[in-house]
Amino acid sequence: MDDTDGPAIIRLSIGDAPAGLALSTEAHWNQNEADWRFFLTRGIVFGIVERDIGLIATAALLPFAEGNAWISMVLVTASRQRRGLATRLVDACINEATRQKRTAWLDATPAGATVYGALGFTPAGCSQRMRFAGGGAMQAALPAGDISELLRRDFRAMGFDRSALLLELSGRPGSCIVAQDGAIALIRDGRTARHIGPLMADDASSAARLLAAIVQSETGPFLLDLNNARSELIDELAAAGWSNERPFQRMRFGLINATGPELAFAGAGPEYG
Ligand SMILES: CC(C)(COP(=O)(O)OP(=O)(O)OC[C@H]1O[C@@H](n2cnc3c(N)ncnc32)[C@H](O)[C@@H]1OP(=O)(O)O)[C@@H](O)C(=O)NCCC(=O)NCCS
Repeated sequence: MDDTDGPAIIRLSIGDAPAGLALSTEAHWNQNEADWRFFLTRGIVFGIVERDIGLIATAALLPFAEGNAWISMVLVTASRQRRGLATRLVDACINEATRQKRTAWLDATPAGATVYGALGFTPAGCSQRMRFAGGGAMQAALPAGDISELLRRDFRAMGFDRSALLLELSGRPGSCIVAQDGAIALIRDGRTARHIGPLMADDASSAARLLAAIVQSETGPFLLDLNNARSELIDELAAAGWSNERPFQRMRFGLINATGPELAFAGAGPEYG
């Protein structure tokens, strides 16, 4: 399909945050308005608006360091799906990433992966979204972590600097960094659940101990996107009462231009990587 076919693609601005939130809420996603504001101010969000309905579809490109970018918030309202809208919006993101000479990454839902595969994205790993429903039995204070340590270990895991993102996420009301015994994680509010990640740890047992401390001390529910390459943690999480919610497929468009020596146990969320 030619890009001029179909309804016009426009660039959204900060005032579109509530309409974006309505779309992600329709899809039962955990993003809140602060997430949308971040994408709308730090990234490029493409959208399609229909006169009688309003915003019906979106896709965002978030630039990262070292020639990388994250694509996310690919959403089409239910009544307008299977008309090629996501394909056109992601194509617009690819064109922008190419113009900026960036490799584009994303974490795809199963439905999204079918769209991206056809556009030339290739698989680059998987994660499992884990959910813990309860929490807060002890309401004990968690050991505070240090932002500079979080930034350092995230850099080692991603291979490029994400300071701007992690400073913003950790500075939001309700966010905290926790660390103990060689494990460190960021916890932040989502629309319906607390999101834990990124989570880096020396080994699976220190990651499991930190997660146990978090869910005992904080009120849930909690979400964690566990890197399948760190699946040694999955049995411990299942035994502790975490359930497996959905898979995400990491995909890449362009050449790998940065790798780090550390494998994170969990990412910052599918929208951020
Ligand atoms: C996934 C989503 C964005 C697709 O939007 P869309 O505008 O319907 O996608 P397109 O029309 O561009 O689809 C292109 C092709 O992808 C495939 N595809 C899209 N949605 C699919 C689905 N739900 N199941 C199977 N294949 C699908 C089909 O091959 C489709 O071509 P076809 O309609 O000619 O068969 C939309 O279903 C959605 O918003 N879902 C909820 C949120 C979500 O999962 N977003 C993706 C995040 S990674």
